[in-house]
Amino acid sequence: MQLFEINGGNRLRGTVPISGAKNAALPIMAASILVDGETVLRNVPDLADVRQMQALLAKLGVRCERDAEGALHLTVEDEMNTHAEYDIVSKMRASVCVMGPLLAKRKRAQVAMPGGCAIGDRPIGLHIQGLQALGADFELTNGDVLLKAKKMRGSEIFLGGPFGSSVTATANVLMAATLAEGTTTIESAACEPEIVDLADYLIACGARIAGHGTPRVTIEGVATLTGTSHTVIPDRIEAGTFMIAGAITNGELMLEGARIDHLRAVVDRLRRIGVIVDRAEKGLVVSSARRIEPVDITTQPYPGFPTDLQAQAMALLSLADGNSCITEKIYPDRFLHVGELSRMGAQLRKEGPTVIIEGVKRLIGAPVMASDLRASAALILAGLIAKGTTRVQRAYHIDRGYEKIEEKLSAVGASIRRLEA
Ligand code: EPU
Repeated sequence: MQLFEINGGNRLRGTVPISGAKNAALPIMAASILVDGETVLRNVPDLADVRQMQALLAKLGVRCERDAEGALHLTVEDEMNTHAEYDIVSKMRASVCVMGPLLAKRKRAQVAMPGGCAIGDRPIGLHIQGLQALGADFELTNGDVLLKAKKMRGSEIFLGGPFGSSVTATANVLMAATLAEGTTTIESAACEPEIVDLADYLIACGARIAGHGTPRVTIEGVATLTGTSHTVIPDRIEAGTFMIAGAITNGELMLEGARIDHLRAVVDRLRRIGVIVDRAEKGLVVSSARRIEPVDITTQPYPGFPTDLQAQAMALLSLADGNSCITEKIYPDRFLHVGELSRMGAQLRKEGPTVIIEGVKRLIGAPVMASDLRASAALILAGLIAKGTTRVQRAYHIDRGYEKIEEKLSAVGASIRRLEA
């Protein structure tokens, strides 16, 4: 098993190219099931999760190849299989994104229930409710969700849950509704940029969608969709992680391709603690020259502060000049990094879905264990500034969502290497 070894203390300086967004690429890849002809996707990051989605799509009869320039070509060749099995779904929850497309195009979707996950309970009831509203019959069979529909009909669907809107439930219903007969209105739709990117791809394929990026999305069903070329948006979570890398090391990073309009809440919090964030011609420049101030952060659905940057923000605020509070409103149990950051000297006290962070002057390198993708990113960030050596075990978590992270960090001055444990 691989690990990352980091020697902390280097100021990061230079340019980091931001990759395409994992959470936009995965549902768009799944959406290729809906279309006739070839989809060409550019700016798809080369990540473990993307390779998992390629493997799943291959089993579902979609030919999926990368060309020499890195573009992904997807073409449906065989529509017989409609079963996403547990061995793949349990490795990657985004596999549930094939549910809507399979149902709409092949009239049947059998998808293993994903089960528990390190960041907490992650139910899929809203996905099922939304697809039932479009006319699907649902049963649970041997741990699989089985949905069937002879005909899908447009409907009015409310997709709000106890923690707000659901990103992949919105994606599933949006995808299914493109081929349903009549008009579908999704209320309390997720507004994340990744949903907008999915809708833009579907529109380019011939779908009729309005209101994407707002809580009310309207879809007029069409008979067929036709393959097209699409460029995936830059990854705002990767960009946010590198913004924090620049801030935590008192460095200066130019994040090439990062979009400030996707990162407003993050920019707001960083500026409030004294980090300088400027728009540049090709992206964003982040710099920090002094000890940061404390601040309170609450994670929320977009455009609020993203839960996918909560752990990384905690690493940063653990070095603030005073006390901060982070409240997690999306996944109240997403705090496995608290114990590991504490091993590095962070002063953290968890009270329900809130962590009170008493800023310390320095973190100290330690062997730590990654528990999930974003928690691992937080431990790497802490390692970049900690005194001495940090070893982050289970590198495979980070490989799910960060393309070439050690290369990108080394190129701007970090001392980080991947080792075999
Ligand atoms: N929820 C329900 N019922 C449902 C679905 C969700 O109650 O049927 C709840 C969840 O438990 C959670 C909230 O709604 O409290 C939001 O979850 P959501 O469904 O939006 O999450 P998701 O679609 O499964 C995506 C990202 C996650 C990201 C969340 C929140 C993808 C592939 N995944 O997950 O990304 O944390 O939205 O923004 O887009 C990551 O990249 O590290 C990651 C976990």
